[in-house]
Amino acid sequence: MFLVLGLILASALFVGLLVYQLKFKHSIEVTRDLGSAPSLPLVGHGYHFLGLEPHELILKVRGFMDTYAKDHTLKVWLGPELNMLMGNLKDVEVILGTLRFNDKAGEYKALEPWLKEGLLISRGRKWHKRRKIITPAFHFKILYQFVDIFERESRVLLKNLERERLKNDKAGFNLYDWVNLCTMDTICETAMGVSTNAQTNADSDYVRAVKTISMVLHKRMFNIFYRLDLTYKLTPLAIAERRALKVLHNFTEKIIVQRRQELLRANSSTQSSDDVDVGAKRKMAFLDILLQSKIDDKPLTNADIREEVDTFMFEGHDTTSSAIMFLFYNIALYPECQRKCVEEIVSVLGNDRETPVTYDLLNSLNYLDLCIKETLRMYPSVPLLGRKVLQECEINGKIIPAGTNIGISPLLLGRREDIFSEANTFKPERFDVVTSAEKLNPYAYIPFSAGPRNCIGQKFAVLEIKAIAANVLRHYEVEFVGNTEEPPVLIAELILRTKDPLMFKLKERVL
Ligand code: HEM
Repeated sequence: MFLVLGLILASALFVGLLVYQLKFKHSIEVTRDLGSAPSLPLVGHGYHFLGLEPHELILKVRGFMDTYAKDHTLKVWLGPELNMLMGNLKDVEVILGTLRFNDKAGEYKALEPWLKEGLLISRGRKWHKRRKIITPAFHFKILYQFVDIFERESRVLLKNLERERLKNDKAGFNLYDWVNLCTMDTICETAMGVSTNAQTNADSDYVRAVKTISMVLHKRMFNIFYRLDLTYKLTPLAIAERRALKVLHNFTEKIIVQRRQELLRANSSTQSSDDVDVGAKRKMAFLDILLQSKIDDKPLTNADIREEVDTFMFEGHDTTSSAIMFLFYNIALYPECQRKCVEEIVSVLGNDRETPVTYDLLNSLNYLDLCIKETLRMYPSVPLLGRKVLQECEINGKIIPAGTNIGISPLLLGRREDIFSEANTFKPERFDVVTSAEKLNPYAYIPFSAGPRNCIGQKFAVLEIKAIAANVLRHYEVEFVGNTEEPPVLIAELILRTKDPLMFKLKERVL
């Protein structure tokens, strides 16, 4: 009995191996010379990653990169899926600098139920046309108006921080959660022209749905069990996702319908004074720009607009709050840098803490700008970029078979000693183009990606980070509560975070 069973299993394994070899023979052969860790038949390198905790994954990949990569390129077979982590700057330039590699890697599929084909995931002609109409939404004239919103929302944040500070005087508290609610309110108001009031009601359906969906996305992208549609659909996570999606899509849809009607009324020739008020009272939100845009002479449908607005909601809040948390961490660890930031803030904004931040004032905060750049080098909010190669191609002599997922890591690049001196030290001055001797390769420093598919919200993000940092630092000295000898343990999922929350104490600042 056991002999028969053994024979059947052995034959199945043999046939499996044969099919595998035949199907992937070509890809295996053309990538033979690329560096890689030891692998097993069928599973490839997958067994190295099985059972690893999320924070161990990045250490494993970094270790493999150091030990096995050739020409900064590492090949990783995950079963039938070929992945390449690429860190040669000439290769990075080819991949990000042209539109040849415009398709996103398979991992981004997990975003589709929420973002559909919004700018982050769309491809080809659709991406090109959409990027063209969305670009003016980030013109400085629009960003200029948004600073009022950054100012208002960061004032609400200050109230929350003051309450937390008084409650947790000794132990410190997790700043991230509060900053995250602030960036959520900010992106919601700038994208849709309405507030989620997340900062005053963190328990609302919408806020909870955003949090659920973020959790689901992280699990789906990096846990093999949740990655396969077939097994995923049977899990409680899939049910939670469906519920959250309903809330998120209904919310956006409702706002779009309302705003479309308001605009129609405001534009009609028989405007009542009330209608005019609607337009005057509300600032132009991204949504309004999309409502007024046309592609091939046709206005965008509600569904078209929803995918773009949802994409802003996704891309525009966890990214900025991650950057702000790491900025506070860095300047808490380097008090001299914090002192310089505050000195600059006072010299630009004055001693009166009530003076609102404005577009021009924020643009004058040059030292704070260097600290933000250096923070994003060490802790890029998006630690990994992924592209899919649709047709076999050659990149600087390396053959990349069709179907390969390419990974480029702003995190690994930012910590390379051959690119950045003392890469693990916070040295904002290295970005000072006037005084620094370090010449920056634009494809080595890529927290906002690079090339035609770079982050469209980069300027928005930096202004928002500056507004929040300036208002917090005017009121408080930021101290880190925790082990200052060891760097934080990182989890490089969709958005960079730490294994344990970073805890901070705030002390009233005397100006
Ligand atoms: C510190 C904050 C931010 C960082 C570090 C960041 C980083 C990035 C990166 C690395 C990409 C490329 C992703 C890829 O290729 O897979 C990207 C794309 C994008 N980002 Fe950001 N982002 C930030 C804030 C924002 C904000 C505030 C918005 C919107 C208001 C935004 C909107 C977008 C959009 C729409 C894309 C897709 C662009 C395209 O494919 O054409 N981002 N971002």
